[in-house]
Amino acid sequence: MATTLESNTAAITVRDLSITYTRPTGGTVHAVDNISFDVRPGEFLTLIGPSGCGKSSVLRTLGGLQTPSAGDIRLGDVTIDRPVPDRISYVFQDFALFPWRTALANVETPLEIQGVPKKERRERAMKVLEQVGLERFAAQYPHELSGGMKQRVAIARALVTDCDILLMDEPFGALDEQTRLMIGVQLVELLEKLNKTIVFVTHNLQEAVNLSDRVLVFSKPPSVVRDVVEVDLRRPRRFEDMNSEEFMSIQRSLFSLLYETESAERAV
Ligand SMILES: Nc1ncnc2c1ncn2[C@@H]1O[C@H](COP(=O)(O)OP(=O)(O)O)[C@@H](O)[C@H]1O
Ligand SMILES: [Mg+2]
Repeated sequence: MATTLESNTAAITVRDLSITYTRPTGGTVHAVDNISFDVRPGEFLTLIGPSGCGKSSVLRTLGGLQTPSAGDIRLGDVTIDRPVPDRISYVFQDFALFPWRTALANVETPLEIQGVPKKERRERAMKVLEQVGLERFAAQYPHELSGGMKQRVAIARALVTDCDILLMDEPFGALDEQTRLMIGVQLVELLEKLNKTIVFVTHNLQEAVNLSDRVLVFSKPPSVVRDVVEVDLRRPRRFEDMNSEEFMSIQRSLFSLLYETESAERAV
């Protein structure tokens, strides 16, 4: 397994990562136990595993939003121990848009923080809104947009800084099934064109197979990487491929890996 988890030319390397929390009431939660893996440049890597196995915790440490209890996360030669906003962006499940700002102003926010002059940030934000198909909605406020549109604004905001790495924690979890499928397919096409590297968390196995190049299956906590599944389906993915024997077979194997994990949990 080590050969498929680690590579020579990684975008991010994770080595011996452990994450432990201390509960306010005392006691500790050992969420992640000594895991190592690489994120390859340009790949779409998805993390799946039982609820509470530490997927969000791992993603936050990859983004430098949280310090690991032990281990090392590197972006090239640099250790990630704080956010790296010019290289890594984050997309949250609940969109996290500013309700008082228009779609355009939301997308502009990270550029404002970077001190980019107004005219340039307007132009860059408009261009990214066009890429996600929302140029006509630039002046709308979040409450005037559908769930799918809001999430596309959040994605545009993550893309506007030209980061090469996007971390996405169940970004489509709040969307209905049809919107989830549509946005997912459009997103992958766009991200491929822009040559982004993605680390994605989902609990939807169909989504995992449809979007990913590789899927890491986490065990129950204290979690290890239980398995890694390569998804060798043609790109661009097509809706009809979801019914193919190959697609179903990968989805079934993810299901049985998860099911074994969960039934092992019930047995203890
Ligand atoms: N800030 C925190 N303080 C204490 N415990 C936490 C904290 N964040 C997460 N946990 C615990 O760590 C474990 C992993 O959580 P999380 O990373 O959210 O898992 P997942 O995203 O896979 O559902 C859970 O048991 C959760 O309750
Ligand atoms: Mg989570």
